[in-house]
Amino acid sequence: MDHFLYKHGVLHAEDVSVPDIARVVGTPFYVYSAATLRRHFEVFDQALSGMDHLVCYAMKANSNLAVLKLLGDMGAGMDVVSGGEYRRALAAGIPGERIVFSGVGKTREEMTLALTHGIRQFNLESEPEMRVLSEVATGLGVVAPVTVRVNPDVDAKTHAKIATGKSENKFGIPIARAREVYAEIAALPGLRAVGIDVHIGSQLTDLEPFRAAFTKVAALTEDLRADGHEIIRLDLGGGLGIPYERTNEVPPLPSDYGQVIRETVGHLGCEIEIEPGRLIAGNAGLMVSSVIYLKHGEGRDFLIVDAAMNDLVRPSMYDAHHDIVPVIEAGAGVEQVPHDIVGPVCETGDTFAKARDLPPLGDGDLVAFRSAGAYGAVMASEYNSRPLIPEVLVDGDHFAVIRKRPTYEEMLARDEIPEWL
Ligand code: LLP
Repeated sequence: MDHFLYKHGVLHAEDVSVPDIARVVGTPFYVYSAATLRRHFEVFDQALSGMDHLVCYAMKANSNLAVLKLLGDMGAGMDVVSGGEYRRALAAGIPGERIVFSGVGKTREEMTLALTHGIRQFNLESEPEMRVLSEVATGLGVVAPVTVRVNPDVDAKTHAKIATGKSENKFGIPIARAREVYAEIAALPGLRAVGIDVHIGSQLTDLEPFRAAFTKVAALTEDLRADGHEIIRLDLGGGLGIPYERTNEVPPLPSDYGQVIRETVGHLGCEIEIEPGRLIAGNAGLMVSSVIYLKHGEGRDFLIVDAAMNDLVRPSMYDAHHDIVPVIEAGAGVEQVPHDIVGPVCETGDTFAKARDLPPLGDGDLVAFRSAGAYGAVMASEYNSRPLIPEVLVDGDHFAVIRKRPTYEEMLARDEIPEWL
């Protein structure tokens, strides 16, 4: 559920009309709904009610400081994967004890940063990383709380580029080696194992892979406890999918996901952490763009819009579907015709959608890309020297620019021509 609805034929973000925002900030832009973000956080929080838990928002999905502050104020923890994300969490006022540090290649600098400013736990991804963290922590005179990310060899049944839980993926330690690894952790001076971590992939639309992975984690918890380790916390990762195609996709609800957690690991008395990203931010955002030209091609119409693959890369990177809708609703009886919706970037990959039915649109008309709140702005680039597009947050009947559009001068000023040229 989201708060992007038509009122009197005009698409609104909560109580603000999308054309009103466009008049102030220009196009293209991202707009997020505070009410939707809050609702999605609450839905997860409620899904785990009755269990000791912390919802650690995976900020890689959308790490704007305003989004982090909004969620942090509701009690969210944060899942970070870089020193940059860790700094964002701190800047948004999230205390270290609510930050978990994931990521396949944490550097000594990143470990030092987190150990100095506070950390709930590091999710270790490899044995070399485990040894380096122990060394860094010992050097600082502290003990680092850790979990080990286990790779359960479960097929998440999602896009190959975002599946992470198979043995051929680069993530985690094979679950069969876990007992050995925890034994080494117990012997290392700078580490204290507090739990187990698992994350099998993103945009999962079936609960069974979660059930399979969590069942393996439950068995491992018992084994590790029998070996004398204190397993007090289970980080079950993120990955629950969202409906990108409203008409025919019905992914499982967070409450059903919560039920799977209860059934698989609920009896262990562990504190549960989850790391949802997409489900919190995805349907809380739109990307809004203007039509530049309608071009009649051979056998097809191209709608050329002012957003491009550099602004929203998911369609070209993962063949992802985003619903694209006119901001001014077509009147009853208006004929919809198929359009290829493309951006101005100079490659064929800059195609958002093919043969989508839309009412007749022309120069200056606005279109909205739905489900763009996650992995949208954060994955944007300046390819083709197109400045990053602004981000706007709506809350009820007001809105604020939460990242402004850089000027061309600012973009160019980052480069330097050496004196000797
Ligand atoms: N935890 C870990 C360790 C992760 O690697 C990820 C996502 C998450 C949590 C959050 O997963 P979510 O709840 O958002 O599914 N750029 C891709 C998605 C990459 C996901 C990477 N890891 C896309 O646009 O589809």
